[in-house]
Amino acid sequence: MWKLIVFTLIIPGSMAIFHTSTRQPEISASLHSDVLLPCVFSLANSKNELKYVIITWKANGVIIAQYMNGEVKASSRAEMLGSELQMGNASLILRNVSLNDKGDYECEVYEVPNLGTVKVSLKVTAAPQVFLNPKVIGFDRPVALECHAVGFYPPGNISVEWWSGSRPLPNQIPLQLYQIQDGSYRTVRHHIYTSFGMVVNDTLSCRVTHESQGGKPIVVPLQVCKPVMTVSPQTVTRGGKHNIVCKLEGCFSNAVISWINKNKSIKQYTCMSTWDCVNIITGEKKMDEFDELFCKAEVEGFDMNITQPVKIINQGGDRCPWITILVLFGVLLIISFCRVCLGVLQKVLMPRVLCITQI
Ligand SMILES: *[C@@H]1O[C@H](CO)[C@@H](O)[C@H](O)[C@H]1NC(C)=O
Ligand SMILES: *[C@@H]1O[C@H](CO)[C@@H](O)[C@H](O)[C@H]1NC(C)=O
Ligand SMILES: *[C@@H]1O[C@H](CO)[C@@H](O)[C@H](O)[C@H]1NC(C)=O
Ligand SMILES: *[C@@H]1O[C@H](CO)[C@@H](O)[C@H](O)[C@H]1NC(C)=O
Ligand SMILES: *[C@@H]1O[C@H](CO)[C@@H](O)[C@H](O)[C@H]1NC(C)=O
Ligand SMILES: *[C@@H]1O[C@H](CO)[C@@H](O)[C@H](O)[C@H]1NC(C)=O
Repeated sequence: MWKLIVFTLIIPGSMAIFHTSTRQPEISASLHSDVLLPCVFSLANSKNELKYVIITWKANGVIIAQYMNGEVKASSRAEMLGSELQMGNASLILRNVSLNDKGDYECEVYEVPNLGTVKVSLKVTAAPQVFLNPKVIGFDRPVALECHAVGFYPPGNISVEWWSGSRPLPNQIPLQLYQIQDGSYRTVRHHIYTSFGMVVNDTLSCRVTHESQGGKPIVVPLQVCKPVMTVSPQTVTRGGKHNIVCKLEGCFSNAVISWINKNKSIKQYTCMSTWDCVNIITGEKKMDEFDELFCKAEVEGFDMNITQPVKIINQGGDRCPWITILVLFGVLLIISFCRVCLGVLQKVLMPRVLCITQI
């Protein structure tokens, strides 16, 4: 009888069921996120609690977290909550997942003499960052476009296409993939834009699909536009004092507007994240100082500078009186000359008239 009791105490769980369970065999996590790798177990002898239990998490065969003698030791980004272990939950929290974290994970729950193992495979995906170069283009000028997709993982199954309105543009050759330092990939899709054959309001966009996005494309529209520069007044008088306004409107975000006299910049203004930009020369500046005045805008994303000249004319008040005086002088000259003429005519014609009346 005594013998039997000792036996049951020493090997209490030999007849009991010991199991571990997991919900998904494959877990997918996005780069830099935190992921929970599930591992749930129930002990053969719940009375002993975790006294004789060793729990080990291995990543590709290397131990990254372990519970032993009531203590959890884990690598810096791995975590097993002691409070959850008491309830048979040995799930591992892996923080800030990197591409190197992908692979096979094993959760081993060892309670002498039983060993239960849960296998989980971790898949890491990274979403591409999509950007266009240039971001903004002028409608009427041909330009080479690039659509970049950077930092995606895994490399297979990416599609980068230029779309016009609701249809993809033809002639899209296979993409070249390049690996970057962190192990992810980048690629670029080229397209030569010409306004020829384009419907004005058909938006050109780049569409990127990748498995990290769950079938939803990332769509980045290209801004096709025409910034317009106006200068007012367009004509100024030399010597006068004028406020001249140079205004750039249209779609752009960053621009530098400069007033240039000859080839020297006299006033520069930078606009950031705006849709119109104004640079004014105030009336304190005498127009005498200017020879060839024009306003120039350098627009970010545009590979051309937009310019508008200001016409500088000599002041009207200087020239007009002289013309008037000259004209008046001329008229007076003609009148006085005619008077002399008339006098001569009279003298010549008078005797003849007298003769006629005598006859
Ligand atoms: C297990 O513990 C983790 C935290 O470590 C928790 O997020 C998760 O919900 C728990 N799972 C169960 C089944 O209790
Ligand atoms: C995550 O890890 C990367 C390096 O892999 C690091 O640059 C980044 O700062 C980390 N993020 C957080 C929130 O710790
Ligand atoms: C590409 O993705 C589709 C669904 O997004 C998937 O069914 C297919 O297996 C993937 N192909 C490769 C080679 O990964
Ligand atoms: C293009 O769109 C603008 C406003 O968004 C509209 O005024 C114009 O009529 C449209 N042009 C064509 C050809 O549809
Ligand atoms: C400006 O033009 C003059 C001649 O008109 C030239 O000598 C000078 O080098 C130019 N300066 C700049 C900065 O282009
Ligand atoms: C626009 O002007 C800037 C500064 O004067 C100059 O560096 C740049 O080459 C010009 N760009 C073009 C396309 O003419």
